[in-house]
Formats: sequence, C-alpha cells, structure tokens
Amino acid sequence: MRQRDFTRRSKGVLLALSCSILALSTAQAEAKAAAAAKPIPQLVQKDGKFALMVDGAPFLILAGQANNSSNYPAVLPKVWPAIADMHANTLVMPVAWEQIEPTEGKFDFSFVDTLISEARAHNVRLGILWFGTWKNTGPSYTPTWVKTDNKRFPRLTNKDGSTSYSLSPLYDATRDADKKAYVELLKHIKAVDGDRHTVIIVQVENEVGVYGAARDYSPKADALMAQPVPAALLKKLGRQPGNWREVFGDDADEYFHAWSIAIYCDNIAAAGKAVYPLPTYMNDALKDPLNPKQPAGSYASGGPTYNVLDIYKVAAPHIDLLAPDLYTAASNSYEASLKFYRRADNALYIAESGNKPVYARYIFSALGQQAIGFDPFGFDYTGYANYPLGAKDWSKDSVKPFGTVYKLFGGMDRVWAKLSYESQVWGVSEPDDHTAQTLDLGAKWNAKVTYRQWQFGMPEWDPENKAGFPEGSDVPSGGVAVAKLSDNEFLVAGLNARISFGNGPANKDKGMLLDRVEEGHYDAGGKWVFERVWNGDETDYGLNFTGEPVLLKVRLATYEK
Ligand code: DGJ
Repeated sequence: MRQRDFTRRSKGVLLALSCSILALSTAQAEAKAAAAAKPIPQLVQKDGKFALMVDGAPFLILAGQANNSSNYPAVLPKVWPAIADMHANTLVMPVAWEQIEPTEGKFDFSFVDTLISEARAHNVRLGILWFGTWKNTGPSYTPTWVKTDNKRFPRLTNKDGSTSYSLSPLYDATRDADKKAYVELLKHIKAVDGDRHTVIIVQVENEVGVYGAARDYSPKADALMAQPVPAALLKKLGRQPGNWREVFGDDADEYFHAWSIAIYCDNIAAAGKAVYPLPTYMNDALKDPLNPKQPAGSYASGGPTYNVLDIYKVAAPHIDLLAPDLYTAASNSYEASLKFYRRADNALYIAESGNKPVYARYIFSALGQQAIGFDPFGFDYTGYANYPLGAKDWSKDSVKPFGTVYKLFGGMDRVWAKLSYESQVWGVSEPDDHTAQTLDLGAKWNAKVTYRQWQFGMPEWDPENKAGFPEGSDVPSGGVAVAKLSDNEFLVAGLNARISFGNGPANKDKGMLLDRVEEGHYDAGGKWVFERVWNGDETDYGLNFTGEPVLLKVRLATYEK
C-alpha cells in the first residue's frame, strides 16, 4: 500500500472512530441525562409523611400480587389479563433463589428478563419479591444445594432439641450465599432496567420468622443470648445494659430472634443497595393485633410483628419499611394492624391483603392512613385459588371489587400520592357493623360517613323493604377517601357510602353550604377534567356513592346565620 493511500485510509478510520466515539459519548451523555431526569425510585419522608418517588414524582402503588408459582415465563400470559382487569399499575411477582441459582454460582435471569420486558409492554411497574432463606418462614424456595445441606446451612433447633424446618439466621454461610444471589439479582435488574425503572421496589425475603419456636435454641444461640444486648437497641428501647434474658425477661427469646433475622436481612439488603439502591421492604405474617398475649411461635416469631418494630428499626436501616400481610377480614383487626404499621418512622404499605371481596374496601382506610401502596394477594388467572383464606372459585368476578376501587384511584395515582405527601388525606372503610364515622377535616370542616343509604332520603323511608336498606348492603363494601385541595376544597372518592360535610369548631356559628360539587376525573397529565355539577337531589341528602366509581371535587362555604 502506498503511503498516501495508507494515510488517506487511516484518516478515514480515525474519522469513523472519532465519529463513533462521539456517538458513544453522546449516547452516554443522553443516557446520563435521562437517568438524571428520572432518578432511581426512592422512599422519601417529610414532616412525618411519606412518598414513593418514581421517576422523580410521588407514585401510588396500586398492585396485584401474583400467586406463588406464577413466576415462570409460560405463566405470564395468565397473569397480565388479571392485572389489566384489576386496573393495577404494578404487578408484584416473586423471584426465587431456586430459579436464579439452581447450580451454585451459575445464574439464570431469563424469567426476570421476560417479566421486565412484558411489564413494559403492558405499561405496568414491578415489585419483586425475593424468595430466599425465608418464604412463609421456611426455606422451600432455596435451591436444592441449600435446602438439602443442613451441615453447611443449619436449621434452627427447637426448644426440645429437635430440628426445626426453618433455617437459622445465625450462620454467615447461609446469609452470604443468599446475599450473593440477591446481589446478582440486583446487579442484573440494574443492567437491564437501571434507566427505565420498571422495577420500583424489592421485598427482601418473604414472611420471615419461625413457627413452633420463639428462637433458635442451639448452643450457639444460647451463647449469643448470654452476650450483652447491643447498645443501640438498649438506647432505642430505653433499657439498662445486660444480656438478652436480663434485659428482656420473657420477651428475650422473641426479641433475640427478631434481632438476629433483622441484622441478617439488613446485611443482604445493604449489599443489594450498594449495587442498585431500590427501595426495600419486609412483609410480616402478623401477630394478632387484638391479642398482645398471643405467644411467640404461635405466630411467626422473629418476623417484623408490631411488637418488635423498634428492634427492626435499629437492626435493619437498609430496609425502608416494614409492611403487614393482612388476612383477617374483621374490620377491628384490619384497622388495628394498619395503625400499628403506620408510624412516624415507617411508611404504611399493604404488602399483602386477602382477596375476598370484603377486603377491597380497606384500600380506603389504608389510603387514609397515608399508605404508599396496596397489594392484595393472588391476582392472576392461573386457576389457583387460596380459598378458604381467599376467595373461592377465582374468576374475573373475584377481581372486580378490587378493579372497581383501583379504577377510582388509577387515573390519579400520582395526583393522590402527591396530595398524600404534600397536603392532607383521610379515609375510612365500612366497619363490619356499618356504624357511621366522622372525619375531622381540621378547624373549619368535618364530615360524617354513613353506609347502607339510598342515594335519596333516609333508609327508613323505603316502603318496600322492611329493613329499609339497599339489597346486598349487609355485606360491608363501602369506603370514602378525602384529600385536601385547599382550605375549602376537597377531593372525594367513594363507593357505597354517603358523605355529609359539616362545620368544624371554627365555623360553628355559621351555616354550611356545598358551594360547588363537580364530578370529573384527572387526565394523564394530572389535570382535572370537569364532567358535570352535582346539585339538587344529588346533593340534598349528602353525597351518595354507589358501586360505580365516582370522583368529586367539593367546594365548601358558609353563610351568616
Ligand atoms: C402469605 C404469603 O406471604 C404468600 O406468599 C402466600 O403464601 C399467602 N400467605 C397465602 O396464600
């Protein structure tokens, strides 16, 4: 090759090279800019209120959780239709240790890839459940090389010396093996989704703890319990130094197990956050909120039950929130649990809820407690039904009660989340005995919520029906959620309920009037779209919500008496 040709050629190569470097750096710069414009999902807190920020703005998780064995590509076509019928904006799906690391050190993320790409196609976000050391307290989702090797990965010892089904949290070998797989999962999610944020939240393990024992009673555990209780925990609980038994007496066994599991999971979560800091949570198989004397072990001892939340808060700073799995339909129990998990240091998130129709109404009280999301269990069309815990004969009809409520909030998931974070929200669900509830909306206003009403007049006016109530209203299904838009203006969403506004103490000498009641909805950009004004019969007997989702903007005023 002649020198001139060579020079011309090499110049061309250089030019092409510098062009592609330029293209690369432009692409990198664009990706960087996109990532900066769409920061990684994050749980934020301000003035005791929480928001899950997704792509830089508050987001309300309206999720459906698939059944346990729906985590394979072949099953997904039976999942998406249920999520669509539900009007959910998020699918919550397990990813199991056994499926991503069937052979030690060899990872398979094919399901994760399919899940993420199909979620995008369905315009749905994802919550990932890490089924690792604990799934409903047992190791069933660990790979064969873990669950069959008690020597390397010891199970805990029951009080009578027998071996428990549950793995002990006291062994680094188990924790490190779990952590390695979890970190690989997070690395992979970052690689395929770091600029898209289809995955918005991760649950670390699933219903940790143990049944049938309060803790590991092995000699190793006994030796650890004889050690001093960590200073940070003493400080948080206001206790004097000593070993676990000295400090906590009868609670020592449960507290020690909770601490051991919490530091184990925190270690895993921290390693995951170091590679890709998605928001994390742990879910809990609940201790009966109405029976403080229920003995540990008859519920999942060591899990983040309401009585050990402080322990988790100290031991697990890399777990963003602790969340209840709500499977008791009784309204007093459900509401009591919501109150336990809504704390100034803990955002309320309904990690699981039963799927019988009566559970759908609890979305209203959860949102009233400033919940960042709701995720009832068992939403797919695989033919599996967890009756008698959940609904029988699972079908499209089972999804409907949840879909109806989600439809109400779905169009305003970001609007609601922003109001919940920056303004004030209230919400109530129909109690089992249908009694009325009062919302204290501040100094100027309040509201009474009643159930089993017609849209007009009073129940006792019904000449046809002796009981006076609308048919079917004996089964509680109602709820109302209210958000403050300005001093005198409220957004009201309701189903099967009547809300009647009234004057608060600051307006007590005045008359109250409904200045304007607009029915409408929010568009995709979060702008209110007016549909009509409610007046006359529609407002003379309170604002009456039927089983059809309706959104109202209500402006209140007073007149001089
Ligand atoms: C709670 C668990 O977390 C779920 O995975 C599931 O097993 C339900 N219980 C029961 O269907």
